[in-house]
Amino acid sequence: MNFLSMPKPELERVYQELLERYRHFQGQHLDLNMARGKPSKAQLKLSEKMLDLVNSSSTLDSENGEDCRNYGVPLGLAEMRRLMAGMMEVPAENVIIGGNASLNMMFDTVACGMTHGFSGCAPWLEQKNRKFLCPSPGYDRHFGVTEYFGFDLITIPMTENGPDMDAVEQWVKDPSVKGIWCVPKYQNPTGITFSDDTVRRFAALKPAAKDFRIFWDNAYCVHDLTETPEHLLSLWSECAREENQNLAFFFASTSKITFPGAGIAAMAAGNDDFAELKKRYSYQTIGPDKLNQLRHVRFLKDMDGIHAQMARHRAILAPKFTAVLQKLESELSGKSVASWTKPKGGYFISVDVMEGCAKRVVELCGGAGVKLTGAGATFPYGKDPKDRNIRVAPSFPPVEELKQAMDLFCICIQLAAAEKLLKS
Ligand SMILES: Cc1ncc(COP(=O)(O)O)c(C=O)c1O
Repeated sequence: MNFLSMPKPELERVYQELLERYRHFQGQHLDLNMARGKPSKAQLKLSEKMLDLVNSSSTLDSENGEDCRNYGVPLGLAEMRRLMAGMMEVPAENVIIGGNASLNMMFDTVACGMTHGFSGCAPWLEQKNRKFLCPSPGYDRHFGVTEYFGFDLITIPMTENGPDMDAVEQWVKDPSVKGIWCVPKYQNPTGITFSDDTVRRFAALKPAAKDFRIFWDNAYCVHDLTETPEHLLSLWSECAREENQNLAFFFASTSKITFPGAGIAAMAAGNDDFAELKKRYSYQTIGPDKLNQLRHVRFLKDMDGIHAQMARHRAILAPKFTAVLQKLESELSGKSVASWTKPKGGYFISVDVMEGCAKRVVELCGGAGVKLTGAGATFPYGKDPKDRNIRVAPSFPPVEELKQAMDLFCICIQLAAAEKLLKS
């Protein structure tokens, strides 16, 4: 039943059938949410024991004998920096541990560029027509940060190997281009991992602006959904090889390893940028929450500990991704109404519906009690030029609810497509 080749009377009949099924859903008064990539309660439970590891009867000193209850150690405990460095594949001495949110560190790094500049260049605030590259579909909150600071957001198409590097290489010839957002592994929302060639081309960039920076947000670096993880080349090592060490800022957090509301964030930078950031942090805080760092290192211990924890997450998450993908496959394949990614990790599935239909699909789902991420959210300024992309977040609802929500989602995708074709 390919919608594109269906005669109109047949399409009209299918439309009426779908409408009936849709109305049936409306009668059920559902209240389901596939909008944000939040871990489920079962996933949060996996880290509850961590809360018992730092208490009034445990040692509250770090390995270097620092009293974690007190001020001090502004860059973070040595053991926490080592743990995050291992995960981010960067040297521990270049890591700064922040608070509970890597997004906060990204925001602050852009703010640093705005007020103080990088590589001795004028602060971004003083530079006209500043631009930031936004591989799309991408993470709405990234785009939001640079929109907030008044950058012109430039859409860079995502390919199956990562951002379109021909476009990136062309754009960085423009000195008003100051940076690019990247989620290199299991990208939000496509699930794509950047290819080796893409990483090498990033490391070899020679931007016209000396203060251009790659914001390398490896939020999903250990978030595999299969036992055969995709491999991401280390941008740090490639930049070192190219002697381009101050080209990138590196970010990660334990938000989706332990608790998103109370995890540990970290960033790393090349030596010159690191020196600047170290100074900046010395003004911002007399010391981060080291008790939280202590409980994280005691709980996760090392990379083996992180991988074991992620395997427990995978056991909960993978069946949800399978449920979503099975519904898409059984309800939509061969109908020419949608295509979708099949991620091997991360938190999202990216669905492209028929051009001009994404907003309508989100509206229809909302009308029957299923909340989706707003159509357009995955593009700069919240505007998808083809009104096509929808980000599905399978992590939060229980599998049975997810299946119900997906049944409705698939009906709405077909309804919107039929509406469009019947009008044409
Ligand atoms: C790509 C990406 N980066 C960062 C974050 C937020 O990370 P944090 O909780 O460390 O601020 C998210 C959350 O969804 C994300 O998808």
